[in-house]
Amino acid sequence: MRDKLSIFGGNSNIKLLKEICKLLRVKQGNASVTRFTDGEIQVKINENVRGNDVFVMQSTSFPANDNLVELLILIDALKRASADRITAVLPYFGYARQDRKDQPRVPITAKLIANLLSRAGASRVLTIDLHAGQIQGFFDIPLDHLYAINTFVEYFKKKNIENLVVVSPDVGGIKMARAYSKRLKADLAVVDKRRINDRQAEVMNIMGEVEGKNIIIVDDIIATAGSLAEAASALKNAGARDIYATITHPVLCGPAIERIAASPLKELVVTDTIPIEDSKMIDKIKVLTLAPLLASAIKRIHNEESISILFE
Ligand code: R5P
Repeated sequence: MRDKLSIFGGNSNIKLLKEICKLLRVKQGNASVTRFTDGEIQVKINENVRGNDVFVMQSTSFPANDNLVELLILIDALKRASADRITAVLPYFGYARQDRKDQPRVPITAKLIANLLSRAGASRVLTIDLHAGQIQGFFDIPLDHLYAINTFVEYFKKKNIENLVVVSPDVGGIKMARAYSKRLKADLAVVDKRRINDRQAEVMNIMGEVEGKNIIIVDDIIATAGSLAEAASALKNAGARDIYATITHPVLCGPAIERIAASPLKELVVTDTIPIEDSKMIDKIKVLTLAPLLASAIKRIHNEESISILFE
């Protein structure tokens, strides 16, 4: 076991970082992450980290590029300050949707980000609900993948919703939705979605019985809310009763809030992997914290203990 645990972070999710430090009773690492006049990022580690087991947390959410570069520079600074091991903690791993060549002449940006993190000096990565599990293979360093499912399931079990059907809003999400349906002892249905562009999705079909049922739509990301709003309307038109959604990463950009407000959704439950600005908070949105999950994982990684117990 390495001697000293240090936790640093960038500016993306200060509240979550503070909460994790509080739970672990670790003083947040002292680093300044500021800007030069021309906008370049300036980082300085203001304490000795020589030989330490350092965790550096940053969600690469909006502004994705600034947050990513902050993280890379923090890792570089910690490496040059002789930290023994650096774990990049990305509660939300941005660019994950660009994980394959699905058109000619497009990049695989998720792989590029993985390369950048390793080259900057990350020894390992800790993240939650990756858009596609296979992204783990883009890294040649250890990656621990956490799941928000326990937190969501605990919340929904307390609601005691009857006649429940878990719905995946697209074919790609079936595996995740099946895990929720198993845990909630609910049936499973799938929305056959076609993406028109990055702001619009169209529902082609609903596979499964939803008439008269209460619904939980399960997804990893909500960005423009096009997928969710379309799925919720199609389910309502097909005779569904109350419609909830549980989505790990609230990217919430563009017309998302207007779409959620106008949709037949009863409640959208998300996590705090990405902070939601006050101006975007509406009554329908409920935020669950993943600070305890991340804190336990950090503690276990530091103590060289298995983290699979966190998913049982
Ligand atoms: C797609 O594969 C993802 O799982 C989400 O469904 C998608 O990213 C959501 O995007 P939007 O909210 O813009 O429809």
